[in-house]
Amino acid sequence: MIVVILEGSRSNISKMQSKFFNDGNDNKITVNQIFEMKKKKEKVAIITAYDYSSALIYDKAGVDGVLVGDSAAMVMLGYDNTNLIGMREMLVFCGAVSRAVKRALIIGDMPFGSYQSSHSKAVHNAVLFVKAGCDAVKIEGGAEVAPIIRSIVGAGIPVMGHIGFMPQTSRMWNNYKLHGKTTESALLLIEEAKELERAGAFGIVLEMVTDEVAALISQNLLIPTIGIGSGLNCDGQVLVSHDLLGMQEDVQLKFVNRYARLSEIIFGAVSLYTKDVKDRNFPQDTNCFHMNKDEFAKVLEKLNKEKKATG
Ligand code: KIV
Repeated sequence: MIVVILEGSRSNISKMQSKFFNDGNDNKITVNQIFEMKKKKEKVAIITAYDYSSALIYDKAGVDGVLVGDSAAMVMLGYDNTNLIGMREMLVFCGAVSRAVKRALIIGDMPFGSYQSSHSKAVHNAVLFVKAGCDAVKIEGGAEVAPIIRSIVGAGIPVMGHIGFMPQTSRMWNNYKLHGKTTESALLLIEEAKELERAGAFGIVLEMVTDEVAALISQNLLIPTIGIGSGLNCDGQVLVSHDLLGMQEDVQLKFVNRYARLSEIIFGAVSLYTKDVKDRNFPQDTNCFHMNKDEFAKVLEKLNKEKKATG
């Protein structure tokens, strides 16, 4: 395959590196380390997280990054698309995740409407993500969001791009499809990816992009590509935790590997709990807290006396 790297983007990356990146010498994964993984050809594993208890487990399991995705709108809040979640809810999820995660890079997904209207609003909201404990933010969009990325990176906040299928806007354009199937679409995606790199993004999510085009983009960028439904050749992968854990029985996506069937496990456990309560099998004596026998005898004696006194 042909590898084309623009000198412009190379110098942009090194400028960013000297300005913002640190050496990452503690246990916490930094954007610099994510960037270095690409150089070392080490794949980057990212999972979405929204709550404290799950994020604790994912971090302990060794993921490189957790994305507090706006997919929270659907999997946590039950909306039918991601556009209905706002900053207020996203910051609650980010706070919970950041209190749990000690090692992985935490990326906050800027919700629809939080970065489009002005650069100052975009920077203001990105700062709120950092104050909620995020190490970086992600925004959806191609060349049109490059100036916004420049502003946020200019404020010192690392930004991850997101092209291909973009859930925030696809619904409105009825564009629920695989991207990079035609020459025109492939060339546009490659150009957009380069534009995001030039703008200073430290990585780019490629969602629902053909394997061939995702491979070309990955080879043409210095920054890592993080694939979701985009084949084998991205520099890393991201999946929605609820999909890979099998939390929703009715959701079966071609590009997802279900590593567990938690919905079945949870259903079984809660059905058993309900039956045990009804059948008086739960709680058992081993689940009880007992009062001291003498103290209890005193209570009974007092109650008996009171009963007698009131007739
Ligand atoms: O919100 C999300 O979970 C995402 C991933 C699908 C990349 O943006």
